[in-house]
Amino acid sequence: MSLHEKNVVVIGGTSGIGLATAVMAQAAGANVWAASRTQEKISQAAALHPLIQFSQVDTHDPDGLKALFASVGHIDHLVGAATGATRTTAPFMDQTDDQFRAAFDKFWGYTHVVRSGVPFLSENASITLVSGTPARRCNPGMISVSCTGCAVEGLVRALAKELAPRRVNAVAPGIIDTPMFDHFGDKKSATMAAIGKGMPLGRVGLPEEVAEALILAMANHYMTGVVIDIDGGALLA
Ligand SMILES: NC(=O)c1ccc[n+]([C@@H]2O[C@H](COP(=O)([O-])OP(=O)(O)OC[C@H]3O[C@@H](n4cnc5c(N)ncnc54)[C@H](OP(=O)(O)O)[C@@H]3O)[C@@H](O)[C@H]2O)c1
Repeated sequence: MSLHEKNVVVIGGTSGIGLATAVMAQAAGANVWAASRTQEKISQAAALHPLIQFSQVDTHDPDGLKALFASVGHIDHLVGAATGATRTTAPFMDQTDDQFRAAFDKFWGYTHVVRSGVPFLSENASITLVSGTPARRCNPGMISVSCTGCAVEGLVRALAKELAPRRVNAVAPGIIDTPMFDHFGDKKSATMAAIGKGMPLGRVGLPEEVAEALILAMANHYMTGVVIDIDGGALLA
C-alpha cells in the first residue's frame, strides 16, 4: 500500500484537486511530476512545492504528453485531473452542438492522457481519472457536464478490463472548494457556503478530501473499474 519511491504523474496537477493529490503523494514518499498548460499556475505551485517537478503540458497535445512521460521513464501511478474543457451550463435545448461538444474536451483530454501514458506504465501501475457527481445526479443545466462524466466513468470501466493487470479507477467529487470556482470573485466564499448548506454534510468539500481518495485508488492493489464518490452525500441530496 506504499507510494514510497513510486513515480506519480498528475496531469492537471498545478491547482485544486490535482495539486492536492500531487502534494499528498509527495508527502507519502513518491517521486511526483505535475503538469498543466499555464506558466502562471506552474510557477505559483512550484514556488510552494519545490520537491514536485512541475512542467507544461496540454491534455490536447499527445506529443507533449508523450515527451513528458518519456522524461519520467516509467510511471507507477498516472492521474488525470485536468478540467480540459469549456463547459456551458444551460439546458440541453438552449445549447448549440458546438457548446455541447466542447464539454467533451475533458473526456478527449483524458483519452490522450491514457493513450500516451500506457506505453510508459509499469506492470502494476494505476490510472485514476476524475469524473464528478453530475454523472449520476444531474441538476437542470448541467447536462453537458453530466454526459461528460458518464463518458469518463464508462471509459474507466472499459479500460479496467482492457488494461489489466494495470488498474483503472475514477474519483467523482461533489462540489469542492477549488480555484475552479474563482470566477465567483469576492462572492466565492458566500456562494460556496450557500451551496454547502444544501449538502447532507452541510458544507462543500476540500481538495485534500478528494486527494485522499485518489491516493487510495493508487495504493490499493485490488481496486479496479470503480468510481469513488467524495461528495458530502450529494448523491443522496
Ligand atoms: N471542484 C469541483 O467542485 C469539481 C467537481 C466535480 C468534478 N471536478 C473535476 O475535478 C477535476 C479538477 O478540478 P479542480 O476543481 O481541481 O479545478 P482547478 O483547480 O481549476 O484545476 C484544474 C487543473 O487542470 C489544469 N488544466 C485545465 N485544462 C487543462 C488542459 N487542457 N491540459 C492540462 N491541464 C489542464 C489546470 O491548469 P492550467 O489552467 O494551467 O492548464 C489546473 O491545474 C476536473 O476534472 C473537474 O472537472 C471538480
